[in-house]
Amino acid sequence: MPFTTYFILMKGEDYMIPKVGLIGINGFGQNHGRTILQLTKKGAIQCSAFADIKVDPDNYIYNKLIKNGAKYYKNYQDMLYKNEDLNFVVISTPIALHKPMAVDALEKGFNVLLEKPPAVTIQDIDEIIDKSKATGKLCAVNFQNTSHKSFIKLNDIIREGKLGDIYRVVGVGMWKRTDDYYERTPWAGKLIHNGDYVLDGTINNPFAHLLNNCLIIAGKGEAKLAEPKEVQAELYRGHKIEGEDTTCVRIHTQNDVEVLFYATLCNIKNATPYIIVYGDKGHAVWTYENDLEIQYKDGNEEKFSYESEPLIENMYYNLIDVITGKEQNLFSSIEDCRSFVLASNGAFESCKGTMEIPDDHIIRQEEDDTVATYVKDIEKIISSASQSWKLFSECSVEWATKTESFSLDGYGEFNLFK
Ligand SMILES: NC(=O)c1ccc[n+]([C@@H]2O[C@H](COP(=O)([O-])OP(=O)(O)OC[C@H]3O[C@@H](n4cnc5c(N)ncnc54)[C@H](O)[C@@H]3O)[C@@H](O)[C@H]2O)c1
Repeated sequence: MPFTTYFILMKGEDYMIPKVGLIGINGFGQNHGRTILQLTKKGAIQCSAFADIKVDPDNYIYNKLIKNGAKYYKNYQDMLYKNEDLNFVVISTPIALHKPMAVDALEKGFNVLLEKPPAVTIQDIDEIIDKSKATGKLCAVNFQNTSHKSFIKLNDIIREGKLGDIYRVVGVGMWKRTDDYYERTPWAGKLIHNGDYVLDGTINNPFAHLLNNCLIIAGKGEAKLAEPKEVQAELYRGHKIEGEDTTCVRIHTQNDVEVLFYATLCNIKNATPYIIVYGDKGHAVWTYENDLEIQYKDGNEEKFSYESEPLIENMYYNLIDVITGKEQNLFSSIEDCRSFVLASNGAFESCKGTMEIPDDHIIRQEEDDTVATYVKDIEKIISSASQSWKLFSECSVEWATKTESFSLDGYGEFNLFK
């Protein structure tokens, strides 16, 4: 479909290219900057304004945006106030700012594309959901892995009933993060920063996509159908941080699916994250490489492999399509993410914080001007736990401690640690 017809927005009698404003252009905001420049080149959008409290005038994205006619604001509220005609605003700022900025932008009448995690606490996501409903403005969440073709295919297959009743979903993510990752920004690895919840760790940051996709699959394409009702979690830290970096979580959902999530940032290498879905007619393996393999109990198999996709561009196109009425559904709406935030809050409630892995199970070594932290045998431990559907403490892992299951029945406020 030619992009000229694809992206044009109608306003009265005039046709115009959607206008976007970006808040946060450093850190991950660089990826949004690059996406915006790509889409600008294609004539798909126009960036008329961007905001950040800190910019480097030599920054490539900053210069290109200015050259393309965008105006820079130090204060994002000024940007919103002076650019009423923005069709949507992208928010790529520290986690604790997501809720106040999203609520502010919605209240001022803007559609929003909000970075993940959309909010840290259930009360905060509920406030964004309420604001979006009250204003009639969209709040999409940049859980870009929801836009993988293979992931959409998997959910279609599940909805068609080809895997039968889904009873278990297992997500596994094993990456390596060195100290420079935690030194890049003051809130990295923190539970609370400047008095605000951050809960930065595998769940809310690098593997948020994995957990969110597990819940979507458990809900046959709709995470809200898989609302967590009970969560048991073991949240460990190998790095010298407050948050978790080595985690296992068991979730029982309202629609009777068991979701198991295993993640570490203390692996020896970055392995491809994957999800295994079990149904009574077979099981499927989906990976971040855009691959899907299905093994049916009747002996048949199906394999799907797609090219790598510009996932963030997909999120922009999808939001524009929903704004213009070409599409009905966002890949990831704020309402869709409520189950994710409940799962995250339930995990911290179950563990009551994070637990240190003793030094004799850790290897710390200097690598490329930084320090790498490995949990000994973590790949073996996660493989074994995820194949037997157990938590670490149930697999006799020496450093593991059993936790209590937490019921989310009637749960509406997270207030641990404060
Ligand atoms: N979708 C993904 O795959 C993905 C990957 C990594 C990070 N993220 C998310 O991106 C977000 C940003 O992460 P980061 O590591 O870039 O954070 P960061 O701390 O580096 O901040 C991002 C930007 O926000 C700016 N900023 C801070 N306060 C501001 C304010 N009051 N007004 C305007 N700008 C402000 C900072 O100057 C910086 O440029 C987080 O929510 C993170 O979870 C998403």
